[in-house]
Amino acid sequence: MYIDIHCHVIWGVDDGGNTREETFHMLDAAAADGISKIIATPHMTPGVYEFPEKRFQEHMAIAREYIAEKGLDIELDRGAELLYTELTPRLLREGKVPTLVGTNHPLIEFSPTDSWEHIRNALQKVSSAGFSPVIAHMERYPAVKSIDQVRLLKDSFRSLVQINARTLLKKQPLMRRKFFNRLFEENLVDFIATDTHSIPGRETCMTEGLAALEAQYGEECLSRILQKTEYFFGS
Ligand SMILES: [Fe+2]
Repeated sequence: MYIDIHCHVIWGVDDGGNTREETFHMLDAAAADGISKIIATPHMTPGVYEFPEKRFQEHMAIAREYIAEKGLDIELDRGAELLYTELTPRLLREGKVPTLVGTNHPLIEFSPTDSWEHIRNALQKVSSAGFSPVIAHMERYPAVKSIDQVRLLKDSFRSLVQINARTLLKKQPLMRRKFFNRLFEENLVDFIATDTHSIPGRETCMTEGLAALEAQYGEECLSRILQKTEYFFGS
């Protein structure tokens, strides 16, 4: 059974879905995909856009009721996907924006057009604020293109690397292929997550993604990632 640390499963709070039925459908699909723990990670832009916290809590409660009624073997927890802003480190320190299940690991995302300097400085500030950030779908940032950069983010700023399961099902562009392969071959990937949205083409694909990972990088690589996810976010 898998833990999904990045998933837009709650409707009405971001671009994840618009109706409760979409949430129910995503929960059913997650259970069928072998996922036994989901950390709901709605988009947040700390200090810039107000997050509909009350609505989120209400919808989480309804989602949990559905899980119980349907007898799904899923634990639903709370997190957020934080688009990095200058206020993010301070708001994290003050406990005003959520980390993944209350750990000291916030899920941080960047814009694909962000520069290397921006990404590096941001993660340095999050680390200095006392956190060990999880970089959301790191494969999406063209500015991070060398193994040395990734090592710096990990070694100096305690960063952890999350890759989307769906990325493993696609052929990487030629320019990125070698870099992408080395991330796995050199054990620099910490977590695989689905980043599920209720949008065609963004459905859960954990089982398929992990099978592709195992086929390409081997069983040891897969079990190391699964064990690490369990160690960090298992119950
Ligand atoms: Fe996401």
